[in-house]
Amino acid sequence: MIYDNHNRPITYLRLAVTDRCNLRCFYCMPEEGIKYLPKHQVLTYEEMERLVRVLARLGVQKVRITGGEPFVRAGLMDFLHRLAEIDGLNDISLTTNGVLTAPHIPALAALGVKSVNLSLDTLDRDRFHKITRRDELPAVLKTLNALLEAGIQTKINAVVMDGQNTQDLVPLTEMTRTMPVDVRFIEEMPFNGEGSHYPVLHWTHRRIIDEIRSHFPDLQKLPDPPFSTSANYQIPGHAGTIGVIAAFSRTFCGTCNRIRMTAQGTLKTCLYDNGVLDVRALLRSGASDDELTTAFLKAFSHRPANGFEAEQQRDTVTESMSTIGG
Ligand code: GTP
Ligand code: 5AD
Ligand code: SF4
Repeated sequence: MIYDNHNRPITYLRLAVTDRCNLRCFYCMPEEGIKYLPKHQVLTYEEMERLVRVLARLGVQKVRITGGEPFVRAGLMDFLHRLAEIDGLNDISLTTNGVLTAPHIPALAALGVKSVNLSLDTLDRDRFHKITRRDELPAVLKTLNALLEAGIQTKINAVVMDGQNTQDLVPLTEMTRTMPVDVRFIEEMPFNGEGSHYPVLHWTHRRIIDEIRSHFPDLQKLPDPPFSTSANYQIPGHAGTIGVIAAFSRTFCGTCNRIRMTAQGTLKTCLYDNGVLDVRALLRSGASDDELTTAFLKAFSHRPANGFEAEQQRDTVTESMSTIGG
């Protein structure tokens, strides 16, 4: 196992397989989309497989596939099959918007995919259309049902937005009554790809919980698993749980075991850094596995203790979550 310079183990890779997406969620990107990378600048599946092998040898045990939207990239399932063969990886998970996912779910279950995190901000078709700028709620609900049928652990990610979907807090919570899903409400972060100032956050962790508790007074706090991004709760007797990801008002930095690889092969050792290593350049210049290992180890020995704090000093933020990989 590798520990960083602040004694945090590095065991979890978030791997963005594309920066493209088939939705246009307004909190993530503008209507016209973001400027996508040309194909040759995106890592090939062979390149990704190689660097996951190297990282697995260094102690990475979990890979979460992110994007953009992973399923817009052709050949994803073949790639996942290859990842499943890598020694040392014991958890392959995905984060998806669920538009193209349903037909692949039996294959994901057969592969042993551990968990799928599904973005779903509302159960109302008009609001879904307004938030994502696409009329795809039925496809996403189909994916949700298929995930539950296949017995894959499912978390729902709902970004809470003032004036947009706060009326969905209760219906989304209500889903946990019969469905074994973890519904996680996320504080909105300023990564909408348009250059925003740090806004005032109207719906904080506290306010979200107060609202839910006013409808479900016996809501109880659960213990949080190690490295969890969410604070977790449950209504006694419900099949599923509730979580709040205080992405904006709380820092997870102290226990952060994650690194990120962007679609263009830039290593980020913190959600908020701009990339600390051009892995694509290394791969394409013919670096050996040993050279890659040395470069990774050097990057892991320079991780910031608290990237979140530094981030909040910034004036404007121009990134899109689709390029960051979430
Ligand atoms: P698991 O713990 O593997 O289930 O993943 P997750 O819940 O972190 O991942 P997911 O892709 O579902 O992301 C949920 C939300 O958490 C998104 O809004 C992410 O941007 C946010 N998030 C993920 N990692 C971090 C992090 O390191 N710091 C912060 N502040 N937010 C994060
Ligand atoms: N703030 C908070 N969460 C966001 N996501 C995308 N953009 C933002 C944002 N600006 C979430 C999506 C997705 C996850 C990977 O990131 O809901 O589920
Ligand atoms: Fe696509 Fe996810 Fe961004 Fe929505 S939040 S546009 S689904 S990458």
